[in-house]
Amino acid sequence: MPKKQLVNPYLLAAQAIAPSPANLLVAVDGEGRPNAMTISWGFIGEMWHKPIFIAAVRPSRYTYQLLEETPEFTVNVAYPQLQKALDLCGSKSGRDVDKFKECNLTPIPAQQVKPPLIDECAICYECKVIHTAQAEPHTSHRLYFGEIVACHADPAVIGGLQLAEFPLAK
Ligand SMILES: Cc1cc2nc3c(=O)[nH]c(=O)nc-3n(C[C@H](O)[C@H](O)[C@H](O)COP(=O)(O)O)c2cc1C
Repeated sequence: MPKKQLVNPYLLAAQAIAPSPANLLVAVDGEGRPNAMTISWGFIGEMWHKPIFIAAVRPSRYTYQLLEETPEFTVNVAYPQLQKALDLCGSKSGRDVDKFKECNLTPIPAQQVKPPLIDECAICYECKVIHTAQAEPHTSHRLYFGEIVACHADPAVIGGLQLAEFPLAK
């Protein structure tokens, strides 16, 4: 057995939602039109024996309305070069602008959920909401517990991790 090394647990876990300090959550409207919103709050873990991504979304966001209508989302881990898109998707609302068009983001079909993946991103999680909770009274965010049903990654970013063997839902 190789000798273990002491590591910072947050840095280790952050590998899964790095390399950017913020990422893009994509949800869709009733016609399947996608909207991307910048998120910096996100948690990956295991609950109910399932891999889960928890996103925190304020009720004022257009994304909130979309998630209430279609409870599926993708989380797209942005390369640092996407900073301009992160800024725009974190300051403009999909009620007013088509952020995919505005940022030249390429939607590609997901395998198991309606919202698309973003081709320009490094890691893309496909999630189905299986539970929600209010974060009140600390904040007004609603927590969306998304079961990760598929995950796609640029091999250069994950550096040899065998993510394909992770026990995702059938
Ligand atoms: C770096 C950054 C991180 C953000 N993280 C979150 C978040 O985790 N949850 C949230 O509800 N809003 C977050 N926001 C704010 C939304 O991205 C922003 O209000 C956005 O314009 C909402 O878009 P929408 O109306 O199209 O949903 C963040 C903004 C920035 C710039």
